[in-house]
Amino acid sequence: MNREQISRIAHAEHPVKSPLDDDSVRRLLERGLPKGTERVLDLGCGQGEWLLRALATRPDVHAEGVDLSEDALAQADAAARELGVRDRLVLHHQKAEEFVSAEPFDVVLSFGAAHAFGGLLPTLAAAREHLAPGGRVLVGDGFWERPPSPEAVEMLGDFTDLADTVDRVVADGWIPVDGHVSTRRELDDYEWACWGSLAAWALDHPDDPDSAEVLETAHARRTEWLRGYRDSWGFVSLVLRRTPGAD
Ligand SMILES: C[S@@+](CC[C@H](N)C(=O)[O-])C[C@H]1O[C@@H](n2cnc3c(N)ncnc32)[C@H](O)[C@@H]1O
Repeated sequence: MNREQISRIAHAEHPVKSPLDDDSVRRLLERGLPKGTERVLDLGCGQGEWLLRALATRPDVHAEGVDLSEDALAQADAAARELGVRDRLVLHHQKAEEFVSAEPFDVVLSFGAAHAFGGLLPTLAAAREHLAPGGRVLVGDGFWERPPSPEAVEMLGDFTDLADTVDRVVADGWIPVDGHVSTRRELDDYEWACWGSLAAWALDHPDDPDSAEVLETAHARRTEWLRGYRDSWGFVSLVLRRTPGAD
């Protein structure tokens, strides 16, 4: 089974591929899209869950999503048709760091995809390229809640603590106008949903040739989380506006 198939099963019960619950996503979208008429871009949109929620509740929003995963984009396409919002959604199958658009966007989103750009600040630099004057960026990335083990850094990459993360964003010319730190419950729910869905799939498909491998992956990833990074890793979401005069 390839990575995309594993990811699809793992996120069956948690379509937002970040440790945020439905209320947090709704509140962040409300702060990011206050008018309801915005042009929105999602860099690393996955199956388009953020855009679909924005489009379904705001009939005048138009959105574009960029992702490398053909499978995730096919899911976004199908879900958008089902919701009746496909005519307001454009999907781009390409590297987010290579995406160009003739028109700027009022809102740029990027959650859980900072690794594609080489970190949070390069992600913000890419978002800025697409942002209309006065626009907002909604970004979500990891931070260290407590000092990590070398294994945790090896698994997840290097981050800073929350205060340093926000200081670096501010020093880069952004002002947080809202934010959210994922709760213990959101972090745990996300991991249980991912590795639990994989384990349940394996148990429900005992005759599938991939069943044993999927169960092993579920065990391995759950152990990596519990022993490797549960105590040190956190996730912060920020709603950002550009500092006046920063450009
Ligand atoms: C953790 S998922 C987050 C998906 C979505 N933002 C969400 O919160 O539900 C990261 C996504 O980034 C995509 N991705 C990784 N590298 C990428 C790249 N270079 N360009 C575009 N998308 C990329 C993956 O395919 C995946 O869909």
